[in-house]
Parts: sequence; C-alpha cells; structure tokens
Amino acid sequence: MARAAASADRGRFITLEGGEGAGKSTQARILAERLAERGLPVMLTREPGGAPGAEAVRGVLLGAGPWDGVAECMLHFAARREHVARSVGPALHAGMWVVCDRFADSTLAYQCFGQGVPRSVWEALADVALGSLRPDLTVLLDLPPEAGLARAAARGDTNRYEELDPAFHARVRAGFRTIAEAEPGRCVVADATDSPEAVSAAILAAVQSRLSPPP
Ligand code: TYD
Repeated sequence: MARAAASADRGRFITLEGGEGAGKSTQARILAERLAERGLPVMLTREPGGAPGAEAVRGVLLGAGPWDGVAECMLHFAARREHVARSVGPALHAGMWVVCDRFADSTLAYQCFGQGVPRSVWEALADVALGSLRPDLTVLLDLPPEAGLARAAARGDTNRYEELDPAFHARVRAGFRTIAEAEPGRCVVADATDSPEAVSAAILAAVQSRLSPPP
C-alpha cells in the first residue's frame, strides 16, 4: 500500500480536495467516467466513508459533535484507516485508478488549520494510519468560502461543518492553499469558480500531464 510509484502495476491514487460547495463530488464522478472510457479500471470513492465501517464512522462524525478537535482527527483517521485497508489499498494493489472525494488533506485543512489541532497530531495519525501511502495527484478545487457555502445551501445538503462560522471556512481555504503550495509535485490548484466543464477539462489536463494515462 506504500506510495510505491516503484511498482509498475500499482494503480494510481487521485484525490479531490476543497472547501464546501467546490464541486468535488461532481468532478470526481466526471473524472472517474473519463478514465473508465479509456478502458482503465477505476474505483470512485469518498471520505469520510468508502468502506462499511468508515461509512458508520461518517454517521458518527456528521451526526454528533461538536467534538474535541483531537478526537475528531482520530475519528477521521480511524475511518480513513478502514477505507485504505479495505478499499483503497486493495484497489491500488490490483492496478486500479482510485478517484477519491476528500482524503487526508481534508483533516489537515479542517481540523488543523480550521480548528487549531496541532499539525504534529495529524502527522502522528497519518504515520500510524497510512504509513507511506499518499495520493499520486491531488487536485484542489479552490473557491471563496462564501461562494461555496451559497452553492451548498442551494443544494440543500448542509452538514455540521457547513454551519461553522465564516472565519473557520476562511482558515480551511487558506490551509488547503498552503498545503498545495508546499507540495507542488503532488498538488494542482483548479479555479472552482469556473464552469463545471472548464474545471473538468483542467482536472483531465492535470491527470494527463502528471500521470500520463493511456489515450
Ligand atoms: P460531505 O457531505 O462529504 O461534504 P462535502 O460534500 O463538502 O465533501 O461531508 C463531509 C464533511 O466532513 C465536510 O464538511 C468536510 C468534513 N471533513 C473534515 O472535517 N475532515 C476530514 O478529514 C474529512 C474527510 C471531511
């Protein structure tokens, strides 16, 4: 399950990240469809969730709270460990292209940058839960929080996080941008205020240039 760019037949791990209402779920679905059209074996998944136990933890995370920040980090990483152990890891090992709606960067942005949990907590949990597994490519769908929150409200599917104050969402956005700037080899930033068509074209271009899937 290691980063294992080393192994020729390991699949590829692509994550989509961003704040509320950035269009991650739509874009993850479109990307998975485009890759499948090329004949690639694809798994589309999401966090928190993506495996039965992880979906159960998702219900706890979104249904209860507010949580102590460290406890919340631990719950996200417990769900992530289950997801990686049962779904993502085996799929990558089988040579699949895994497209995941949110992953560990969300915990860094929401719980550390947003809620003030020390980064060292994230690092310790990532070490235990993920070992060396990291995405091959992360696309950050970036947009001002007020625009994203308005979209999410219009969809009518607000959750506990969306109801947090605007300053929290501003810290989350800044956190994601800081992560992307620190790891330009892994991360690409797409302007999520563009049309869905333009955003999906930008994502496909990034996948093409970074991971070179077959035409
Ligand atoms: P979801 O309905 O999937 O939101 P979205 O459609 O915006 O992806 O709910 C997941 C919520 O959980 C979302 O508000 C962000 C939050 N979250 C964290 O705070 N930390 C994490 O590590 C993850 C994966 C999600």
